Amino acid sequence: MLVRCYRVKPAVWAALFVLVLCWFYIFPVYRVPSDTEIVDEVLRQGGVWEKNQTGIDLYRKLLTDCCDPRRNFAVTKENSPMGKVLWYDGEFYHSHTVNNETYPLFVQRNPLQFPLKKCAVVGNSGILRHSKCGQHIDRADFILRCNLPPLSKDYVEDVGTRTHLVTANPSIIEKRFQNLLWSRKAFVDNMKVYGSSYMYMPAFSMKPCTDLSLRASYALADSSSNLTMLFANPEFLRTVGKFWKARGVHAKRLSTGLFLISLALGLCEEVTAYGFWPFAIGLDGKPVSHHYYDNILPYKWFHTMPEEFVQLWHLHQSGTLRLRLEHCPP
Ligand SMILES: *[C@@H]1O[C@H](CO)[C@@H](O)[C@H](O)[C@H]1NC(C)=O
Ligand SMILES: *[C@@H]1O[C@H](CO)[C@@H](O)[C@H](O)[C@H]1NC(C)=O
Ligand SMILES: *[C@@H]1O[C@H](CO)[C@@H](O)[C@H](O)[C@H]1NC(C)=O
Repeated sequence: MLVRCYRVKPAVWAALFVLVLCWFYIFPVYRVPSDTEIVDEVLRQGGVWEKNQTGIDLYRKLLTDCCDPRRNFAVTKENSPMGKVLWYDGEFYHSHTVNNETYPLFVQRNPLQFPLKKCAVVGNSGILRHSKCGQHIDRADFILRCNLPPLSKDYVEDVGTRTHLVTANPSIIEKRFQNLLWSRKAFVDNMKVYGSSYMYMPAFSMKPCTDLSLRASYALADSSSNLTMLFANPEFLRTVGKFWKARGVHAKRLSTGLFLISLALGLCEEVTAYGFWPFAIGLDGKPVSHHYYDNILPYKWFHTMPEEFVQLWHLHQSGTLRLRLEHCPP
């Protein structure tokens, strides 16, 4: 009996060891700094920031090599001809074959005019409130915003008025516009604040996104809206996800904000990010609301955003992009 136990034990230990290894492989151990640690770190650095052309050129090259944003960030007639199979990036083994119904909705080619000089990527964090960054943001040459944010009078001073590209998550269209099954006029009217910008929707990321994005596209086209629909290219989203995963972002899916910053780093000569602060306390130690317009916490938000922030903070420290965390000078 004893002998048998003695023999079994190493095998059990070996099996346990392998299990633990697998566990760490699937759920790697990494420690994201706490809110207060981040605040201390940011305060220690102070407002000092210097542009680093080497870093900017390096990241543009890295992103061009992995993900080719210039050619690939949107689905176009050029990169997705009839019959092309688009594999969904947020869904296991699901694809869409470009057909007579979808092909005409694609733009011919990447419509952005290069070079894009100064870009502003605007996140929706509560630190924008009372920031007085509106004029700073509006002075950029290309302004990217996340998830149909409100730009009404109350917020103009802090977030500005101009937009060149705005993302729309299907979930917000589902909630605010009842899936566009009947309230299409409300949708089109609400989109007027974004002027003649591009609306960027992940039409081929998850199954329910496709019909909804097509409906949004028809709604804009039928109403002779000034917005142009661009469908996010699932191949681009997948490669950008891999790019950050290799750099320590373990989220199942990146936030829209990090996708937009990656796009800007690949396309723009200079990137400033506003409203990226996923913490509940601000640099002054006071509470910060989740969004500049409300304090509704989305589901699953906590796990990924601080980790993404650490990456952005490294880029800020090296001068590759500028994170605006303080109020803007008048
Ligand atoms: C500038 O960026 C490069 C590449 O990321 C980096 O190696 C270098 O240390 C940066 N310089 C400064 C002063 O941070
Ligand atoms: C697309 O539509 C044309 C006619 O409008 C038809 O001839 C063609 O077979 C269709 N192609 C596919 C792939 O359905
Ligand atoms: C589109 O832009 C033109 C010119 O700026 C403007 O006159 C028109 O009202 C806009 N249309 C919509 C639906 O916003």
